[in-house]
Amino acid sequence: MLMAATPKTVLNNNWAAATQTFTAVLNPFLTAQVDADVAQQPLHDAMTYTLASGGKRLRPVLAFVISQLGSAALSAQDFLFPAGAIELIQTYSLIHDDLPAMDNDDLRRGKPSNHIQFGEAQAILAGDGLLTLAFSWLARAPFNTAVRIAMVQALADAAGPAGMVAGQSQDMADTGEDITDTALHQLVANKTAQLITGAAEIGALAGQLTVSQRAAVRDFAWALGQAFQIRDDILDVIETTAELGKTAGKDAAEHKNTYVSFYGLAGARQQLQAALMAARAAWTPAVLASLGFAAMPAVLADLIQQLEE
Ligand code: IPE
Ligand code: IPE
Ligand code: MG
Ligand code: MG
Ligand code: MG
Repeated sequence: MLMAATPKTVLNNNWAAATQTFTAVLNPFLTAQVDADVAQQPLHDAMTYTLASGGKRLRPVLAFVISQLGSAALSAQDFLFPAGAIELIQTYSLIHDDLPAMDNDDLRRGKPSNHIQFGEAQAILAGDGLLTLAFSWLARAPFNTAVRIAMVQALADAAGPAGMVAGQSQDMADTGEDITDTALHQLVANKTAQLITGAAEIGALAGQLTVSQRAAVRDFAWALGQAFQIRDDILDVIETTAELGKTAGKDAAEHKNTYVSFYGLAGARQQLQAALMAARAAWTPAVLASLGFAAMPAVLADLIQQLEE
C-alpha cells in the first residue's frame, strides 16, 4: 500500500517526483473506476484506451499539488475523484480534438488516435462518456456539498462553452484565416488556459485556500496555461513525431493559428518566457507568507522550469 504523501514531501519535490507520487495512485484509480462505471462495450474499451495511453497528467497533478498548499490535511486518496474528473475532461478533449472534423490527427499519446482504433462513432461517444462521467465523479468526491458544488461549477465553466469548448470552436472557425493577436490570445486562453486554471481552482477548493490565495493560484495557472499552449505550438515545430507522440508539423499542415505562425519561432519563444515570468510573479511575497512559505514551493518552481522548453 502506497503511503499518502505528506503535504511537505510533495511541495518540496521536483515536478517529476510529484507526478510519480500522485500518478502511482491516480492511474490505477482511473482504470479501475472506469471499469466499475462503464459496462457497455466497446464504449468502455474506447474510453479506457486513450485514458490509459500515458498522458503527462499535468492538470490532475497540478490540482493535487495546489490542494497541498493549504492547511487542510488531504491525502492523494481523498483527491482521486476530483483529479480523475479533470483527467477525464482532458482525455475527452484530446479524442475530439483528433477527429477528422477537427484536427484530423492519427496519432495521440504515442498510439493510433481513438477514431483510428475504434471508428469515429465510438470515438465521439467515448468523448461524450468521459465528459459526462467527469461530473459524476465530482459529485462523488469526499468533500462537503458546498465544496463539491463549487468544484462542479469550476470544472463546467473551465471546460464548457465559456471555456475550452469556446476555444476549440474559435480554433476551428479561425483555421486558415488571418486573425489579430488579441483573437489568438483569446483562442489560446480559452482552449488551454481555462482547463489548467479550472484544475488549479479545484485544488484550491479542496485545500481550503483563502480568497486571496485562490486569486494568486488562478493568476499563476492562467499564465501557466498560456505558456503551456505556446510551448505546445513550439514543440509541434521543433520536435519529432516520436518525441511528441502525436503528429509533428501538424499545425502548419492544417493552417492553424498558433503562436509560431503568428510570431515566428523566436517571437513565440519570447512570448513563452513572458508567460512563465507572469506565472512566477503571481506568487507575491504576501501570498507566499500567508501560506507559510518564504519562496515559491520547489515543485511549482520546477514545473515552471520544465516549461522553459
Ligand atoms: C495537449 O495537452 C493539449 C493541449 C492543450 C496542448 P497535453 O500536452 O497535456 O497532453 P497529454 O494529456 O499529456 O496527452
Ligand atoms: C488542443 O490544442 C487544445 C485542446 C483543448 C485539446 P492542440 O490541437 O494544439 O492540441 P494537440 O497539439 O493536438 O495536442
Ligand atoms: Mg486542436
Ligand atoms: Mg490538435
Ligand atoms: Mg498542438
